[in-house]
Amino acid sequence: MFQGHDYQRLLEISKRVNWRIEDIIGPDRPMDFDRRFLPESFARTAELEFLSGAERLKLNQIRGFGYLAMFELVERCIVPVIEAHAPSAPGQHPYRTPALDNFAVEETKHIELFVRFRRAFAEGFATPCGFIGPADEIVATIRSHGALAIAIFVLAIEWATQQHWLESVQEDDGIDPQFKSLLKHHWMEESQHAKLDALIFHELAEAAGPQGVMAAVGEFLQIGGLVDGWLADQTRLDLASLEAAIGRRLGQAERARFLERQHQAQRWTFLGSALANQGFLKALGEVSPEGRTQLEQVAPAFC
Ligand SMILES: [Fe+2]
Ligand SMILES: [Fe+2]
Repeated sequence: MFQGHDYQRLLEISKRVNWRIEDIIGPDRPMDFDRRFLPESFARTAELEFLSGAERLKLNQIRGFGYLAMFELVERCIVPVIEAHAPSAPGQHPYRTPALDNFAVEETKHIELFVRFRRAFAEGFATPCGFIGPADEIVATIRSHGALAIAIFVLAIEWATQQHWLESVQEDDGIDPQFKSLLKHHWMEESQHAKLDALIFHELAEAAGPQGVMAAVGEFLQIGGLVDGWLADQTRLDLASLEAAIGRRLGQAERARFLERQHQAQRWTFLGSALANQGFLKALGEVSPEGRTQLEQVAPAFC
């Protein structure tokens, strides 16, 4: 049932791979604004043929800013969830609480990592970029859902970071080394989180039973629908940020195409990359093959 993952082993691996923020971003490690920040598979700027090469680069970097802000927000959602799960009941694994405490500490560090990158972005990018919010309201809306649905949501997000790192490796050319390092180092620690999430998911699923799990999968899809609406809002903000950055307003047809294609690109970045990730599907499917099938059926809409 527990996939062979062990709290003590995961804590030991976490301590071994642990890194410091200053090793990834800082005065001696600046972001390179002549390069792309996100892999093209997520930014999808080439689909917008009415933009010049320089304008596509600006859009890629705006999407990079949105990635930083979105993950800062998501981490703010995850930390209190993990802290709430950390106290262990008698009879549970003795390393359960230390492993989950360490998990929360790492996510708090990740928030600071994304804040530092966002600050470096603001210093290097000529015009301001918008981001959805208020963040507190979005976090509260996600957290108003049931514990099991939120556990699936967190599991999905952790595995999505693997997809982000994998695709940055595949598109090795031209991505800013600092941004690529962010994706790599984030996944190095998320890799343990994803396994700890699976353990929490198993605990909650056992208590809920098969019907409870399927209800939670349905609720998880509702959270996905909310996220999709926020991504549509973010796409409109990105359009405004791009027009400010390139100093021209796009035509009506171009704007419509931008909104349609970039919303889909956002879907793949934050939803599809989780729903299509084999690690996520495996972890879910071990508890609920039926739930896995349901998610595989909706995944193509987010790719
Ligand atoms: Fe994280
Ligand atoms: Fe994480």
